[in-house]
Amino acid sequence: MTVQMVKDGDPSWKPTFIVKPDSGCQGDGIYLIKDPSDIRLAGTLQSRPAVVQEYICKPLLIDKLKFDIRLYVLLKSLDPLEIYIAKEGLSRFCTEPYQEPNPKNLHHIFMHLTNYSLNIHSGKFVHSDSTSTGSKRTFSSILCRLSSKGVDIKKVWSDIISLVIKTVIALTPELKVFYQSDIPAGRPGPTCFQILGFDILLMKNLKPILLEVNANPSMRIEHEQELSPGVFENVPSLVDEEVKVAVIRDTLRLMDPLKKKRGNQSQQLLATKENPSDSELAGNTNPEAHLPSICLKQVFPKYAKQFNYLRLVDRMANLFIRFLGIKGTMKLGPTGFRTFIRNCKLSSSSLSMAAVDILYIDITRRWNSMTMDQRDSGMCLQAFVEAFFYLAQRKFKMLPLHEQVASLIDLCEYHLSVLDEKRLACGRRGTVGARPPSSGTPQEAAPAAQLAEGHPPPCTNSAHRLSHSRHSPS
Ligand SMILES: Nc1ncnc2c1ncn2[C@@H]1O[C@H](COP(=O)(O)OP(=O)(O)OP(=O)(O)O)[C@@H](O)[C@H]1O
Ligand SMILES: [Mg+2]
Repeated sequence: MTVQMVKDGDPSWKPTFIVKPDSGCQGDGIYLIKDPSDIRLAGTLQSRPAVVQEYICKPLLIDKLKFDIRLYVLLKSLDPLEIYIAKEGLSRFCTEPYQEPNPKNLHHIFMHLTNYSLNIHSGKFVHSDSTSTGSKRTFSSILCRLSSKGVDIKKVWSDIISLVIKTVIALTPELKVFYQSDIPAGRPGPTCFQILGFDILLMKNLKPILLEVNANPSMRIEHEQELSPGVFENVPSLVDEEVKVAVIRDTLRLMDPLKKKRGNQSQQLLATKENPSDSELAGNTNPEAHLPSICLKQVFPKYAKQFNYLRLVDRMANLFIRFLGIKGTMKLGPTGFRTFIRNCKLSSSSLSMAAVDILYIDITRRWNSMTMDQRDSGMCLQAFVEAFFYLAQRKFKMLPLHEQVASLIDLCEYHLSVLDEKRLACGRRGTVGARPPSSGTPQEAAPAAQLAEGHPPPCTNSAHRLSHSRHSPS
């Protein structure tokens, strides 16, 4: 209905839509429509949910064919955020020459959908030994082609890096909440990483558009070949091998838990040997010296400066996590929310604690009824973000929205760091046998039972206890 209204308001806007049923994958069940009322509703959208997007009608073509790019991205660590992008990726081609969508070609999947799993059945799929021809090619071969036509490929690549960083930044707040519920902060434990598959479409004007992020991208390096009718054999796919082997190899090199230890050892070795020839010798003991150069390129924190302004929700998630309390929970209880308000000194004569409680109940109830996630009660991250925006608007009325929120985050982080310093000082005094201070603010002298709702350890605790709290320096 909204689409119809926008269309009526602007008759020149004649979009095509792509409908992706939730139940399908690998291109299965996807179809294009011109008219929103053509959506296939066997049952209701609720019983058959689908994602509907505006179809990008003007993709960049090579050899008259539409193609998309699969790039591998390593999320090496969430806190601190570390992102690597593989310099080499795959380009997956359609197998029927492209035409802009019209009623006659809407159903031509080999023209509009680039999925390998679909096009392999078109009869026109070209397996190739070369990485620059065929229906699956390396991304670098595409860049070479574009460069030879005078395209500024550095700009294309930097736009892609920017797209990847922005997307990961959008993912991290929720991921962090999940992560902390399984892995407590501040303790040595398992190190997790994830290889993500980014599907990107280049538009005719060379602007990259994100199609989707695959959490579990295929790492297959072979494909099926029909030797004789009905007889299939798995044969190596050179293009897949070139891209994927390097991604796995470099991921393992970067994640290797022993590497740090070895790194320290070789540094010690270098430090003790002042003679340059000895240092060279020490360098030669590097067990990775014979491996090909790294294909994974660090893009974050390398380009952090340019993107840190986007990390506001991430910083809100840090605050949220700090007050969560019980390990394993992903929702903030009413006491945790009150503690957040008190510790960040947000209540005032115009915002009473009673008003804070009402704010909590209102927003939490609405989000819990919307998300249908009734597993545990309490405030989810999204609800906390909404409450945060509300508080920011009240406190910094005169500023533009982004600055309102940024200012409130700065303020909260400031008060919490002051509190942390105080607690640390108290802890130190506690460990040398000093009398625990009795004149702390009411929240600092909170009873131990309140810890369960997210109270950071009280002032009288030792530094040892502090290191086990879920404080993440924000
Ligand atoms: N908005 C769009 N505009 C143009 N083409 C699109 C758009 N969205 C998807 N496509 C094409 O459709 C193909 C399939 O879409 P998508 O990758 O979103 O679904 P899928 O492959 O079925 O999902 P999954 O990869 O999770 O199995 C894409 O590879 C691309 O070629
Ligand atoms: Mg896909």
